[in-house]
Amino acid sequence: MTSMRASKRVVRGFSRALAVGERVFLRQPTGPDREEFVALRDRNKRFLQPWEPRPVDGMKFFGPAAFDRLLRSVRSGDACRMLLCLRSTGQIMGAVNLNQIARGPFQSCTMGYWIGREFTRQGYMAEAVKLAVAHAFGELGLHRVEANIIPRNEPSRALIQACGFRFEGLAKRYLQINGRWEDHEHWAMTVEDWRRPNPKI
Ligand SMILES: CC(C)(COP(=O)(O)OP(=O)(O)OC[C@H]1O[C@@H](n2cnc3c(N)ncnc32)[C@H](O)[C@@H]1OP(=O)(O)O)[C@@H](O)C(=O)NCCC(=O)NCCS
Repeated sequence: MTSMRASKRVVRGFSRALAVGERVFLRQPTGPDREEFVALRDRNKRFLQPWEPRPVDGMKFFGPAAFDRLLRSVRSGDACRMLLCLRSTGQIMGAVNLNQIARGPFQSCTMGYWIGREFTRQGYMAEAVKLAVAHAFGELGLHRVEANIIPRNEPSRALIQACGFRFEGLAKRYLQINGRWEDHEHWAMTVEDWRRPNPKI
């Protein structure tokens, strides 16, 4: 388990934590999370939807069907899907996903993240990204973590920069987001960057 400063206090879901920080922890979703997760996503639909794909090929991104899909993907092995939870109570605040885990000579993944609007600007996601990166390079043994961001998503760009990621370039019409093929900036970190003395992360 990746640990930044684990205390002995037990909170809901904490025993299943994959990574623990001072104020947040990351854990895999399980069936009993359905109601809380779906409610969090539903009340944040207008906040999140501009940055997420629209249903493609029947895939749903909100509602119980989206949660069922998330649970199925937890078992798939090519991704590490984690809920972002508040350390003091276990409340679910958002998620960090290490997607498209590629092995062989690539040893890479693509990181995605979101948090409920009511929890923003409190440093929770910065802490969660650092934990997820440590998990990727530590327990998962990966070499590279990428994040792809629409240039106008200023909060996400500022976040990933603050977390020490390196800008690698612009991919034209890279992903279909909210119904449009959007340009995305590639940001990345390798394990060598992460191990550097005094890294930001
Ligand atoms: C992007 C997002 C994850 C940021 O989460 P957050 O919990 O607010 O981020 P933090 O509080 O940890 O912020 C860390 C740093 O990121 C930057 N940042 C975060 N939100 C910002 C904003 N609205 N404006 C400018 N900078 C911002 C700041 O540098 C901040 O540090 P500071 O507060 O000390 O200035 C959140 O806004 C979100 O979920 N947005 C919708 C979904 C989304 O865009 N996902 C990413 C798709 S690529």
